[in-house]
Amino acid sequence: MNKIRLEDKEFQVSIHYKTIYQSIKQIASQINHDFEGEDTPIFLSILNGAFMFTGDLFKELRINSYLSFVKMASYQGMNSSGEIRELIGLNEDLADHHVIVLEDIVDSGLTIRRLYEQIQAHQPRSISIATLLLKPDVYGESIALDYVGMEIPNDFIIGYGLDYNGLGRNLRDIYKVVNNG
Ligand code: IMP
Ligand code: MG
Repeated sequence: MNKIRLEDKEFQVSIHYKTIYQSIKQIASQINHDFEGEDTPIFLSILNGAFMFTGDLFKELRINSYLSFVKMASYQGMNSSGEIRELIGLNEDLADHHVIVLEDIVDSGLTIRRLYEQIQAHQPRSISIATLLLKPDVYGESIALDYVGMEIPNDFIIGYGLDYNGLGRNLRDIYKVVNNG
């Protein structure tokens, strides 16, 4: 299944699950190392896209960890709307905790910045960002990304939790769009 069609778009495999998992294991081992002996961190996963990344990463964590979710949406179709909607807010008390944000992909960085500012208002002990994917050519924020799985070109991708109009999240591999018609 190298090519698939979702609605009006065709996609082809660009990152296999094996490669994705390797990269997640690396992130996990860095986090295991950095937070060993620290107070239990709270992982804050951004729904919907980060659900698969979160599941796989959690299986590789060897430190005690709390997990909570927020739900933010910015993408419509293949483009960032430039406006972030918060669908499930931050209900956790983060004061004095280490917070590690889990994101599927950082694109413009708007989503991360918005959440970062909200977390900061809780006065946590620290905030770290872990993202499976980064599009460095479009990232326009200055917030440090502490754990980055893979850098990718500015292509629209789906699979492994990422969607096109809500579809494609179930795919094991990551696919990139090949044509628009
Ligand atoms: P940002 O706010 O521009 O950084 O966009 C981040 C969010 O947009 C991510 O959490 C994804 O949910 C979504 N997104 C960004 N790039 C893609 C893509 O190539 N495919 C699917 N969703 C994407
Ligand atoms: Mg997302």
